[in-house]
Amino acid sequence: MNDALIFERSIKGRVGYSIPRSTVPHAPIPTKFCRETSIDFPEVSELDVVRHYTKLSQKNYGVDQGFYPLGSCTMKYNPKINEEVAKMAAFTQIHPLQNPESVQGALHIYDEMDKALSTLTGLAHFSFNGIAGAHGELIGLMVMKEYHLKRNDAKRNKVIVPVSAHGTNPASCTLCGFEVVQVATNEHGCVDMEALKSVLNDEIAGIMLTNPNTLGLFERDICEISRLMHENGSLMYYDGANLNALLGHVRPSDMGFDIMHINLHKTFSTPHGGGGPGSGPVGVRADLADYLPNPQIKKVGGAYQWFDNPKSIGRVSGFYGNFLVILRAYAYILSLGKENMRQVSLLSVLNANYVKESLKPWYKLPIQDLCMHEVVFDGLISEKATTLEVAKRLLDYGYHPPTIYFPLLFHQSLMIEPTETESKETLDQFIEVMKVIAMEAESDPELLKNAPHHTIVRRLDEVTAARNPILTIKDIPHE
Ligand SMILES: Cc1ncc(COP(=O)(O)O)c(C=O)c1O
Repeated sequence: MNDALIFERSIKGRVGYSIPRSTVPHAPIPTKFCRETSIDFPEVSELDVVRHYTKLSQKNYGVDQGFYPLGSCTMKYNPKINEEVAKMAAFTQIHPLQNPESVQGALHIYDEMDKALSTLTGLAHFSFNGIAGAHGELIGLMVMKEYHLKRNDAKRNKVIVPVSAHGTNPASCTLCGFEVVQVATNEHGCVDMEALKSVLNDEIAGIMLTNPNTLGLFERDICEISRLMHENGSLMYYDGANLNALLGHVRPSDMGFDIMHINLHKTFSTPHGGGGPGSGPVGVRADLADYLPNPQIKKVGGAYQWFDNPKSIGRVSGFYGNFLVILRAYAYILSLGKENMRQVSLLSVLNANYVKESLKPWYKLPIQDLCMHEVVFDGLISEKATTLEVAKRLLDYGYHPPTIYFPLLFHQSLMIEPTETESKETLDQFIEVMKVIAMEAESDPELLKNAPHHTIVRRLDEVTAARNPILTIKDIPHE
């Protein structure tokens, strides 16, 4: 009973709230809007609810509990000062439909963030309407499409995406009506220049790249790629998911990028959330700014205003993005300042290389070069266990596993991104555990095959879970 679901605790008539007596006249809801049957809510006390949610939270795992080396996700610590700012009533109690005169402070923050991100990236303007990294990709590609259409160049309906790209890149291209043209990766894990040249023609609208790429490697030919693309009349799109590695050192505009998105929930320390709320601001060079989504913000006679730009690609979300997420990122930028911002990338690169060098006697390192903020191994050198088994065994030691089987370039990809916020002691403990697992794989491979052994939920049947998902609490089978 102690672990009973909240529905099982329900006792008819039990309540956990009291509503003050109404001081306004009773206004009946029209019958057509009323439910015919009551919702089957659990009837429980406040204490039942508090215990229920506290227990659920303890079964969860987050960056506040332990190391979270999920590659490509930049699971850095989210400083609590961000939360303090985001819960201030002055910000939580405003509404997007309020008159702009009454929310000048909030609009000022959008403006300040626009300036801060423009300084860090070298692009001219940012729109904050995007509510995820992938949403930012779609918006950026819509801007790219609009640019070519306005130049009467509608035949440009293809976008180049390297094979190492994150899955959202080709997905966003397809969603935007572009055809995806894949380019291969060379032996250094970077774009194969000959392959790139062979696909360039007057149908190519642009290229989507992340730099460092998903192998955590810096695309050394980036300036040449940019020259070739621009010479071909195509645009350069920067997937900002890996911006953490370059922050304060290299600006995407200096590498020749024209359009980009930033994942505030990665580089700028806002929570990743359970699928949201996220934020994917989109930055563009000056001549593309008109195409950014509506509403846009402008300052007229010292006051900020919303406005619908007739040249824009239009609306992409309900209002103007997830304001409280943008606010958290603003707090992060101000609390770090310019110099510490540079430290972010230095330390994230140092930490990833420390993990790389420490683990390479045990884990296959297909590309030996200096990595940036993350490192990709290709499973155990001994091959005595798979990457999946290593990841499951890590759960027994209390760690969130790294990203596995991505990027798709290797059969046993194991992608570790330690981030700058972890101490050397934490990294050493993790490295030690990874070594112990490598030894266990040799001495007792069965231990890994059946892992995890100590978690609340054991090895899941992932195929059945995908085919027959249990989506409501009531469908959970009772043992
Ligand atoms: C390289 C890369 N691009 C794009 C995305 C998509 O970002 P989001 O999850 O915010 O939609 C991710 C997410 O992990 C990523 O790693």
